[in-house]
Amino acid sequence: MPGDDLLPLKTDALAKIAAAQNPETLDEIRVSLLGKSGALTARLKQLGTLAPEDKKTRGAELNVLKTTLTDALAARRETLDQAALTARLAAEKIDISAPPRPEPLGAIHPISRTMEEIATIFGAQNFAIKDGPDIEDDWYNFSALNIPAHHPARAMMDTFYLNASHGNRPAVLRTHTSPVQIRTMLEWARLHATLTEKPPIRIIVPGRTFRADHDATHSPMFHQCEGLVIGKDITLAHLKGCLIDFLRAFFARPDLPVRFRASYFPFTEPSMEVDIGWNKKTGELGGGGDWLEILGSGMVHPNVLANCGIDPREFQGFAFGMGIERITMLKHGISDLRLFYESDIRWLKHYGFSPLAPATLHEGL
Ligand code: DAH
Repeated sequence: MPGDDLLPLKTDALAKIAAAQNPETLDEIRVSLLGKSGALTARLKQLGTLAPEDKKTRGAELNVLKTTLTDALAARRETLDQAALTARLAAEKIDISAPPRPEPLGAIHPISRTMEEIATIFGAQNFAIKDGPDIEDDWYNFSALNIPAHHPARAMMDTFYLNASHGNRPAVLRTHTSPVQIRTMLEWARLHATLTEKPPIRIIVPGRTFRADHDATHSPMFHQCEGLVIGKDITLAHLKGCLIDFLRAFFARPDLPVRFRASYFPFTEPSMEVDIGWNKKTGELGGGGDWLEILGSGMVHPNVLANCGIDPREFQGFAFGMGIERITMLKHGISDLRLFYESDIRWLKHYGFSPLAPATLHEGL
């Protein structure tokens, strides 16, 4: 019977396919049957030598066998792939019972924290926050603040002068935050030139400042916070109330002694240095009978107002400026200013603050 010779081929091939354990073996079997010199291919090639009626039946038989073998190869391949996937999934299983690694959480630097606290306390007094450029020209940094060229007061600040200039004015790294007073007043005078009822100015300016100075209590880059209040009826009493409230809130001592001591700044008249009470022996803040200088302040000099296009007969106000490093060191018992900038992770961990607990006046800072 024609086709009988195909039965052993079929049985043998199906057995081999069923026994194949991996895709490589399966491929070898495929080549041995259907490849160029495969067993089935050889039989297909012989078709040409047959008589037309034999060719038809033999051709059909061979085609059926070819389909059977191709299907068997594909099915076995599918089975092997599935098994491989299952094995991989089992091997790669993640043990979700393992404890998670702790997420390292950064800390807020004490300098940033102090700036936040300053903003919170003065924010409650309705002050807004302003900033200005680190690179100033010497008119804003000195001249407009009533510190003329060649005035000895310029020598008090060890200024970094830059080779660049602003127009024909020398550029400097700002030695204090006071130039932002000038920028704010100029902008205010311009914006409200046509208003008969001008709003008051009430700003603080936390920011970076620079002086050519370096030791345990001075760094070439440091931080200050300026304050400026301008209005029609602003007096020294406002200055005192505002700063006493600030210092008592910041150092968290409602009874902190505060002293105003006559001093000199070119941009204020009268000028006052502000001291707080402490105990020199123990270093403790409060009523220890000694005084510690904390910040400079005064009534804005009429020349400064006039330099900004503000009539000093109509408006007056007060200003103050404090060093942020200094009050941070005092508040947290930090002895060397250079530690702030060493980026020592252990130090930052110890003195830093949780980013999840921002400064608020609710229940104190
Ligand atoms: N700018 C001064 C400094 O850096 C600090 C200062 C003193 C600022 C008195 C003021 C002020 O606004 O009124 O030493």
